[in-house]
Amino acid sequence: MDSILVTGNGPLNGQIPIAGAKNACLTLMPATLLSEEPLTLTNAPRLSDIITMTALLRSLGAEVSSLQDGQVLAMSSHDLTSHTADYEIVRKMRASNLVLGPLLARFGEAVVSLPGGCAIGARPMDLHVEGLEALGAEIELKDGYLHAKAPGGLKGAVHEMRFASVGATENIVMAATLAKGTTVLKNAAREPEIVDLVGCLRKMGAQISGEGNSTIEIQGVDRLHGATHQVVTDRIELGTYMLAPAMCGGEVELLGGRMSLVESFAAKLDAAGVSVTETKKGLKVSRKNGRVSAVDVVTEPFPGFPTDLQAQMMALMCTAEGTSVLEERIFENRFMHAPELVRMGANIEVHGGTATVTGVDQLKGAPVMATDLRASVSLILAGLAAEGETTVSRVYHLDRGYEHVVRKLEGVGAKIERIKGQ
Ligand code: UD1
Repeated sequence: MDSILVTGNGPLNGQIPIAGAKNACLTLMPATLLSEEPLTLTNAPRLSDIITMTALLRSLGAEVSSLQDGQVLAMSSHDLTSHTADYEIVRKMRASNLVLGPLLARFGEAVVSLPGGCAIGARPMDLHVEGLEALGAEIELKDGYLHAKAPGGLKGAVHEMRFASVGATENIVMAATLAKGTTVLKNAAREPEIVDLVGCLRKMGAQISGEGNSTIEIQGVDRLHGATHQVVTDRIELGTYMLAPAMCGGEVELLGGRMSLVESFAAKLDAAGVSVTETKKGLKVSRKNGRVSAVDVVTEPFPGFPTDLQAQMMALMCTAEGTSVLEERIFENRFMHAPELVRMGANIEVHGGTATVTGVDQLKGAPVMATDLRASVSLILAGLAAEGETTVSRVYHLDRGYEHVVRKLEGVGAKIERIKGQ
């Protein structure tokens, strides 16, 4: 198995291009299932999660061609052959469940494996099921699979979600595009990836309003047509690389970055003593003074502080002046990076969903292990700021969500290399 060797090397300077959003692409790809006509995505990120979604769509009979070195995905669901999302693929990636809504809407039938336990929490699908049932679906759980049927077709309804789940919002919105009548989805998630999905669905002929707010209204149409859509910038990759100059000093410009994607995160960085300014090409980030100051963080649905940046923010707080409290409110088990950061000399105490971090003068390089996608990149950030060598193993987690991480960090002066496993 490959590992990544990072050697603390002082300030970082230069530019890092930010890719299209993994999480947007993973919901835009299943949107192809809603139409017989082709859907083409541009600015797609080159990630193993995208390869997994490609395999899932192909297993349903969709055609997916990866063009221009993977940045363009040309898809067609003209001749689908299956409506079953198999456990062997779904277990690799929870986002596989995003085929449920589209399959049900187009065929009146879908069988989708439950994703099973996940490293960062239980992550059930009850909110997806409740929303689709409100649209008239009959769903039962058999042998680990959700069997969904809508014999008379889906029907628009007013539905309020108990929690603003990102995936459930995406599944319900996609299903409602082809339902009869109007759906009003209340307490919907407001993430930029949902706004991007709705933008694409609208190009495909869907009638939707309210995306980005907590009430989304969808007027069902008989059919959707083909479209070409550019995937929105990855705000989590953006936020991750914003932390590199915050941790190491220097000045880095994140190409393609926009403040509107990372408002609450940038506000926290500002409070910690990190300057973030918009430029013509993206966002420029540097420390205001020397060491950053401790700030408290509570993760919340968008527009709050993203859970997907909590691990990386913890890495910054490990080197900050003072004590910070990080509260994780989205996932119940998302501090697996803490013991690894402690191996690098960090001072962290975890009690339930709260981590208390007291900054240390200097992190020290160590062999550490990635436990999930965002945890793995937090260890790389810590390694960049640490004294000596850090080896991060199990980097397949990283490949799920960060394209060309070595090349991008090398480009701003980091000493980082990928070591091929046996
Ligand atoms: C998406 C993102 C993920 C991010 C998360 C929260 C994708 C592919 N993934 O995941 O990177 O961390 O949003 O911003 O876009 N829940 C239920 N029942 C449900 C669904 C969710 O209880 O039916 C719970 C989950 O267990 C979790 C919380 O709700 O505790 C948030 O989950 P959700 O917003 O659905 O996240 P995902 O769509 O899975």
